[in-house]
Amino acid sequence: MTTSTTALTPLTLTGDGLLLRPLSLTDEPAIAEALRDPEILRWAGGRTVAEAPEAERARFWLGARLMAWSTGSAVFAITDATRGADGVMLGFLAAREVNRLPDQAVMTYWITPAARGRGLASNALETAAHWALSPTSKGGLGLHRLSLDHALANPGSCRVAEKAGFALEGTMRDFYVDPSGLRHDSHLHARLARPH
Ligand SMILES: CC(C)(COP(=O)(O)OP(=O)(O)OC[C@H]1O[C@@H](n2cnc3c(N)ncnc32)[C@H](O)[C@@H]1OP(=O)(O)O)[C@@H](O)C(=O)NCCC(=O)NCCS
Repeated sequence: MTTSTTALTPLTLTGDGLLLRPLSLTDEPAIAEALRDPEILRWAGGRTVAEAPEAERARFWLGARLMAWSTGSAVFAITDATRGADGVMLGFLAAREVNRLPDQAVMTYWITPAARGRGLASNALETAAHWALSPTSKGGLGLHRLSLDHALANPGSCRVAEKAGFALEGTMRDFYVDPSGLRHDSHLHARLARPH
């Protein structure tokens, strides 16, 4: 079976008090700080990054994502809207693998520890989902289904998904392998363009 993703044009989205803007090289210090957080490393950093020397992690992480739009992933820095386009990065949100499966994408996110607990993850996910599921005639990606997964041991991510309209569809056994090699059962959540 052949698979192909969609090359995407970088853009900025506006949410409830936040901006989702394309990542930039100037985000490296904020990413370095975020990747010192054990929760981000465990649930969202990726094994290659977690195994890299701390001083190298942000460069590896950012280098793998700066060109991601051209290969079918929308990768955003989450910032405070009141700080404008140059606001410091408070979190990350991506719609990955756009159209690898027709009309679908996979969502992922993290928020720096200092910016948690004020609705950033759920608002950013809602904003990006609305855009991705909107018709192309209205500036969206025109997708039908967005999915995400999180380890059962990460209940905060479950609540973020539910708040942003991603219904729980089931449990995937041993789906996620954390950087220490430990396997975790994971929830599969999804949001559709038209609720069923
Ligand atoms: C999980 C994470 C993204 C939450 O970010 P956040 O901006 O603090 O989340 P929000 O403020 O939008 O919270 C949304 C809801 O989740 C709840 N929540 C957030 N973190 C929680 C936690 N650790 N435990 C239980 N509930 C939590 C909030 O209370 C809120 O629910 P409420 O409105 O009913 O009170 C953040 O803690 C994080 O980045 N964790 C590490 C990386 C990660 O797990 N990424 C997801 C990988 S699947």
